[in-house]
Amino acid sequence: MDELVIKDLFVSADGKMILKGLNLTVKKGDVYAILGPNGHGKSTLLNAIMGHPRYQVESGTITFNGQDILSMSVDERSRAGIFLGMQYPSEVPGVVNADFIKAALNARREKPISAMELYRLIDKTSKQMGISLDMANRSLNEGFSGGEKKRNEIFQMTLIEPYLSMLDEIDSGLDVDALQVVANQINELKKKGMSFLIISHYARLYSLISPNKVAIIIDGRVVTTGGPELIEKVDQTGYEWISKELGISITKEDKEEPISATSIGICATKEGLKK
Ligand SMILES: Nc1ncnc2c1ncn2[C@@H]1O[C@H](COP(=O)(O)OP(=O)(O)O)[C@@H](O)[C@H]1O
Ligand SMILES: [Mg+2]
Repeated sequence: MDELVIKDLFVSADGKMILKGLNLTVKKGDVYAILGPNGHGKSTLLNAIMGHPRYQVESGTITFNGQDILSMSVDERSRAGIFLGMQYPSEVPGVVNADFIKAALNARREKPISAMELYRLIDKTSKQMGISLDMANRSLNEGFSGGEKKRNEIFQMTLIEPYLSMLDEIDSGLDVDALQVVANQINELKKKGMSFLIISHYARLYSLISPNKVAIIIDGRVVTTGGPELIEKVDQTGYEWISKELGISITKEDKEEPISATSIGICATKEGLKK
Protein backbone atom coordinates (compact mmCIF):
# COMPACT_ATOMS: atom_id res chain seq x y z
CA MET A 1 0.00 0.00 0.00
CA ASP A 2 1.30 3.46 -0.86
CA GLU A 3 1.16 5.50 2.29
CA LEU A 4 2.89 8.75 1.39
CA VAL A 5 2.90 9.89 -2.22
CA ILE A 6 4.74 13.04 -3.25
CA LYS A 7 4.39 14.19 -6.83
CA ASP A 8 6.30 16.92 -8.62
CA LEU A 9 6.73 18.96 -5.46
CA PHE A 10 8.06 22.52 -5.66
CA VAL A 11 8.73 24.25 -2.34
CA SER A 12 10.24 27.67 -1.65
CA ALA A 13 11.39 29.47 1.50
CA ASP A 14 11.99 33.19 1.76
CA GLY A 15 11.59 33.54 -1.98
CA LYS A 16 14.13 30.85 -2.84
CA MET A 17 13.00 27.69 -4.66
CA ILE A 18 14.44 24.72 -2.78
CA LEU A 19 12.50 21.64 -3.89
CA LYS A 20 12.23 21.55 -7.65
CA GLY A 21 9.99 18.74 -8.79
CA LEU A 22 10.53 16.12 -6.11
CA ASN A 23 8.85 12.71 -6.37
CA LEU A 24 8.82 10.07 -3.64
CA THR A 25 6.53 7.19 -2.67
CA VAL A 26 6.68 5.57 0.75
CA LYS A 27 4.85 2.31 1.33
CA LYS A 28 3.51 1.18 4.68
CA GLY A 29 6.37 -0.27 6.72
CA ASP A 30 9.12 1.29 4.61
CA VAL A 31 12.19 2.56 6.38
CA TYR A 32 13.48 5.12 3.92
CA ALA A 33 16.98 6.54 4.26
CA ILE A 34 17.20 10.03 2.80
CA LEU A 35 20.72 10.88 1.66
CA GLY A 36 22.20 13.86 -0.11
CA PRO A 37 24.83 16.55 0.34
CA ASN A 38 24.17 19.43 2.75
CA GLY A 39 21.92 22.21 1.57
CA HIS A 40 20.09 20.25 -1.12
CA GLY A 41 16.63 20.19 0.41
CA LYS A 42 16.40 17.19 2.75
CA SER A 43 15.16 19.12 5.78
CA THR A 44 12.95 21.23 3.55
CA LEU A 45 11.22 18.08 2.36
CA LEU A 46 10.42 16.92 5.90
CA ASN A 47 9.27 20.40 6.91
CA ALA A 48 7.02 20.66 3.88
CA ILE A 49 5.45 17.28 4.67
CA MET A 50 4.79 18.40 8.24
CA GLY A 51 3.46 21.79 7.10
CA HIS A 52 6.06 24.18 8.51
CA PRO A 53 4.75 27.69 7.70
CA ARG A 54 8.12 28.96 6.42
CA TYR A 55 8.08 26.47 3.60
CA GLN A 56 5.73 27.44 0.82
CA VAL A 57 4.42 24.66 -1.39
CA GLU A 58 4.34 26.24 -4.85
CA SER A 59 3.00 23.25 -6.74
CA GLY A 60 2.75 19.48 -6.67
CA THR A 61 0.87 17.13 -4.37
CA ILE A 62 1.41 15.22 -1.14
CA THR A 63 -1.07 12.57 -0.10
CA PHE A 64 -1.00 10.42 3.03
CA ASN A 65 -3.18 7.31 2.87
CA GLY A 66 -4.99 8.90 -0.03
CA GLN A 67 -5.73 12.14 1.80
CA ASP A 68 -4.46 15.46 0.46
CA ILE A 69 -2.35 16.66 3.38
CA LEU A 70 -1.45 20.00 1.84
CA SER A 71 -4.91 21.22 2.71
CA MET A 72 -4.45 20.11 6.33
CA SER A 73 -3.05 22.09 9.27
CA VAL A 74 0.09 20.87 11.08
CA ASP A 75 -2.15 19.71 13.86
CA GLU A 76 -4.34 17.69 11.49
CA ARG A 77 -1.27 16.15 9.90
CA SER A 78 -0.07 15.12 13.33
CA ARG A 79 -3.41 13.56 14.14
CA ALA A 80 -3.28 11.72 10.84
CA GLY A 81 -0.18 10.02 12.27
CA ILE A 82 2.75 12.03 10.91
CA PHE A 83 5.58 12.95 13.27
CA LEU A 84 8.68 15.09 12.77
CA GLY A 85 11.65 14.64 15.06
CA MET A 86 13.57 17.82 14.58
CA GLN A 87 17.18 18.57 13.73
CA TYR A 88 17.10 21.43 16.24
CA PRO A 89 14.25 20.85 18.74
CA SER A 90 12.90 24.06 20.28
CA GLU A 91 12.88 24.84 23.99
CA VAL A 92 9.39 25.58 25.28
CA PRO A 93 9.69 26.94 28.82
CA GLY A 94 6.56 26.53 30.93
CA VAL A 95 5.20 23.54 29.04
CA VAL A 96 5.87 20.38 31.02
CA ASN A 97 7.09 17.50 28.89
CA ALA A 98 4.53 15.06 30.35
CA ASP A 99 1.65 17.51 29.73
CA PHE A 100 2.81 17.98 26.16
CA ILE A 101 2.88 14.22 25.62
CA LYS A 102 -0.53 13.84 27.26
CA ALA A 103 -2.02 16.48 24.96
CA ALA A 104 -0.46 14.81 21.91
CA LEU A 105 -1.81 11.40 22.95
CA ASN A 106 -5.28 12.73 23.74
CA ALA A 107 -5.49 14.48 20.37
CA ARG A 108 -5.39 11.02 18.80
CA ARG A 109 -7.67 9.19 21.24
CA GLU A 110 -11.40 9.18 21.72
CA LYS A 111 -11.22 8.82 25.50
CA PRO A 112 -8.57 10.90 27.31
CA ILE A 113 -5.74 8.88 28.80
CA SER A 114 -6.02 8.44 32.58
CA ALA A 115 -3.31 9.84 34.85
CA MET A 116 -2.41 6.29 35.90
CA GLU A 117 -2.17 5.02 32.34
CA LEU A 118 -0.03 8.02 31.34
CA TYR A 119 2.27 7.46 34.29
CA ARG A 120 2.67 3.76 33.44
CA LEU A 121 3.42 4.56 29.81
CA ILE A 122 5.98 7.24 30.68
CA ASP A 123 7.56 5.04 33.35
CA LYS A 124 7.83 2.07 30.99
CA THR A 125 9.27 4.11 28.13
CA SER A 126 11.75 5.96 30.36
CA LYS A 127 13.04 2.61 31.65
CA GLN A 128 13.16 1.16 28.14
CA MET A 129 15.19 4.14 26.97
CA GLY A 130 17.35 4.37 30.10
CA ILE A 131 16.40 7.99 30.74
CA SER A 132 15.49 9.42 34.09
CA LEU A 133 11.82 9.78 34.86
CA ASP A 134 12.31 13.40 35.87
CA MET A 135 12.90 14.34 32.24
CA ALA A 136 9.13 13.97 31.83
CA ASN A 137 8.51 16.53 34.55
CA ARG A 138 10.83 19.18 33.18
CA SER A 139 9.80 21.95 30.80
CA LEU A 140 9.86 20.80 27.19
CA ASN A 141 13.52 20.74 26.12
CA GLU A 142 14.37 23.64 28.44
CA GLY A 143 18.01 23.42 29.43
CA PHE A 144 18.29 19.97 27.86
CA SER A 145 21.66 19.10 26.37
CA GLY A 146 21.75 18.48 22.62
CA GLY A 147 21.68 14.73 23.18
CA GLU A 148 18.81 14.98 25.68
CA LYS A 149 16.75 16.98 23.20
CA LYS A 150 17.27 14.33 20.56
CA ARG A 151 16.39 11.57 23.00
CA ASN A 152 13.30 13.50 24.01
CA GLU A 153 12.16 13.59 20.39
CA ILE A 154 12.47 9.80 20.30
CA PHE A 155 10.74 9.53 23.68
CA GLN A 156 7.77 11.44 22.21
CA MET A 157 7.84 9.34 19.06
CA THR A 158 7.75 6.13 21.11
CA LEU A 159 4.78 7.29 23.16
CA ILE A 160 2.82 8.69 20.22
CA GLU A 161 3.48 5.73 17.87
CA PRO A 162 3.10 7.70 14.63
CA TYR A 163 2.33 5.85 11.40
CA LEU A 164 5.07 7.87 9.70
CA SER A 165 8.05 9.15 11.69
CA MET A 166 10.39 11.58 10.01
CA LEU A 167 13.72 11.98 11.77
CA ASP A 168 16.10 14.74 10.76
CA GLU A 169 19.71 14.05 11.76
CA ILE A 170 18.44 12.58 14.99
CA ASP A 171 21.80 10.92 15.56
CA SER A 172 23.96 14.05 15.46
CA GLY A 173 25.40 14.72 18.89
CA LEU A 174 24.53 11.30 20.28
CA ASP A 175 27.13 9.00 21.78
CA VAL A 176 27.21 5.33 20.85
CA ASP A 177 24.98 4.23 23.74
CA ALA A 178 22.37 6.90 23.07
CA LEU A 179 22.45 6.01 19.39
CA GLN A 180 21.71 2.39 20.27
CA VAL A 181 18.75 3.51 22.40
CA VAL A 182 17.39 5.59 19.52
CA ALA A 183 17.85 2.69 17.10
CA ASN A 184 16.07 0.30 19.50
CA GLN A 185 13.04 2.58 19.66
CA ILE A 186 12.94 2.92 15.88
CA ASN A 187 13.17 -0.86 15.55
CA GLU A 188 10.31 -1.37 18.02
CA LEU A 189 8.00 0.83 15.91
CA LYS A 190 9.33 -0.78 12.75
CA LYS A 191 8.16 -4.16 14.12
CA LYS A 192 4.69 -2.70 14.48
CA GLY A 193 4.67 -1.86 10.77
CA MET A 194 5.22 1.88 11.11
CA SER A 195 7.05 3.83 8.36
CA PHE A 196 10.07 6.10 8.52
CA LEU A 197 11.86 8.80 6.58
CA ILE A 198 15.30 9.11 8.11
CA ILE A 199 17.94 11.70 7.28
CA SER A 200 21.43 10.95 8.50
CA HIS A 201 24.99 11.45 7.39
CA TYR A 202 26.17 8.46 9.38
CA ALA A 203 26.27 4.87 8.22
CA ARG A 204 26.26 3.80 11.88
CA LEU A 205 22.60 4.67 12.52
CA TYR A 206 21.59 3.08 9.25
CA SER A 207 23.46 -0.10 10.11
CA LEU A 208 21.44 -0.34 13.34
CA ILE A 209 18.02 0.17 11.74
CA SER A 210 18.52 -1.44 8.30
CA PRO A 211 16.50 0.79 5.96
CA ASN A 212 14.90 -1.14 3.09
CA LYS A 213 14.93 1.84 0.73
CA VAL A 214 17.19 4.76 -0.02
CA ALA A 215 16.56 8.03 -1.85
CA ILE A 216 19.26 10.52 -2.77
CA ILE A 217 18.25 14.17 -2.94
CA ILE A 218 20.29 16.56 -5.02
CA ASP A 219 19.28 20.10 -5.88
CA GLY A 220 15.72 19.63 -4.67
CA ARG A 221 14.96 16.42 -6.50
CA VAL A 222 15.18 12.70 -5.78
CA VAL A 223 17.82 11.82 -8.35
CA THR A 224 17.94 8.13 -7.60
CA THR A 225 16.36 5.53 -5.34
CA GLY A 226 17.45 2.03 -4.48
CA GLY A 227 18.12 -0.43 -1.71
CA PRO A 228 20.59 -0.38 1.18
CA GLU A 229 23.49 -0.91 -1.22
CA LEU A 230 23.23 2.82 -2.01
CA ILE A 231 24.15 3.67 1.60
CA GLU A 232 27.33 1.68 1.26
CA LYS A 233 28.10 3.22 -2.10
CA VAL A 234 27.73 6.77 -0.77
CA ASP A 235 29.61 5.88 2.41
CA GLN A 236 32.55 4.62 0.42
CA THR A 237 32.59 6.92 -2.58
CA GLY A 238 30.52 10.01 -1.76
CA TYR A 239 28.24 11.56 -4.33
CA GLU A 240 30.71 12.10 -7.14
CA TRP A 241 29.50 9.03 -9.07
CA ILE A 242 26.10 10.67 -9.36
CA SER A 243 27.59 13.56 -11.31
CA LYS A 244 29.24 11.07 -13.59
CA GLU A 245 26.53 8.46 -13.99
CA LEU A 246 23.53 10.74 -14.04
CA GLY A 247 25.14 13.84 -15.47
CA ILE A 248 24.09 15.99 -12.52
CA SER A 249 26.42 18.67 -11.21
CA ILE A 250 26.48 19.08 -7.44
CA THR A 251 26.78 22.59 -6.10
CA LYS A 252 28.35 23.08 -2.72
CA GLU A 253 26.60 24.54 0.28
CA ASP A 254 28.66 26.98 2.39
CA LYS A 255 27.54 25.59 5.71
CA GLU A 256 29.29 22.33 6.45
CA GLU A 257 28.62 19.78 9.13
CA PRO A 258 31.68 18.90 11.20
CA ILE A 259 33.61 16.35 9.22
CA SER A 260 33.91 12.96 10.82
CA ALA A 261 35.65 9.83 9.71
CA THR A 262 32.36 7.95 9.79
CA SER A 263 30.35 10.57 7.96
CA ILE A 264 28.62 9.36 4.83
CA GLY A 265 29.68 11.08 1.70
CA ILE A 266 30.80 14.41 3.05
CA CYS A 267 34.53 13.86 2.76
CA ALA A 268 34.34 12.16 -0.58
CA THR A 269 31.94 14.82 -1.83
CA LYS A 270 34.36 17.54 -0.85
CA GLU A 271 37.05 15.76 -2.79
CA GLY A 272 34.73 15.46 -5.73
CA LEU A 273 33.83 19.12 -5.62
CA LYS A 274 37.44 20.26 -5.63
CA LYS A 275 37.83 18.84 -9.12
N1 LIG B 1 13.77 29.11 5.80
C1 LIG B 1 14.65 29.23 4.81
N2 LIG B 1 14.83 30.40 4.17
C2 LIG B 1 15.71 30.51 3.15
N3 LIG B 1 16.46 29.52 2.71
C3 LIG B 1 16.34 28.34 3.30
C4 LIG B 1 15.43 28.12 4.37
N4 LIG B 1 15.53 26.84 4.77
C5 LIG B 1 16.45 26.28 3.96
N5 LIG B 1 16.94 27.18 3.09
C6 LIG B 1 17.97 26.93 2.07
O1 LIG B 1 17.53 25.88 1.24
C7 LIG B 1 18.59 24.99 0.93
C8 LIG B 1 18.22 23.59 1.39
O2 LIG B 1 18.20 23.56 2.80
P1 LIG B 1 17.87 22.26 3.64
O3 LIG B 1 16.57 21.72 3.21
O4 LIG B 1 18.00 22.64 5.07
O5 LIG B 1 19.05 21.31 3.19
P2 LIG B 1 19.61 19.94 3.80
O6 LIG B 1 18.69 19.51 4.90
O7 LIG B 1 19.64 19.00 2.64
O8 LIG B 1 21.00 20.24 4.30
C9 LIG B 1 19.82 25.58 1.58
O9 LIG B 1 20.50 26.35 0.63
C10 LIG B 1 19.27 26.44 2.69
O10 LIG B 1 20.12 27.50 3.00
MG1 LIG C 1 19.07 19.42 6.98
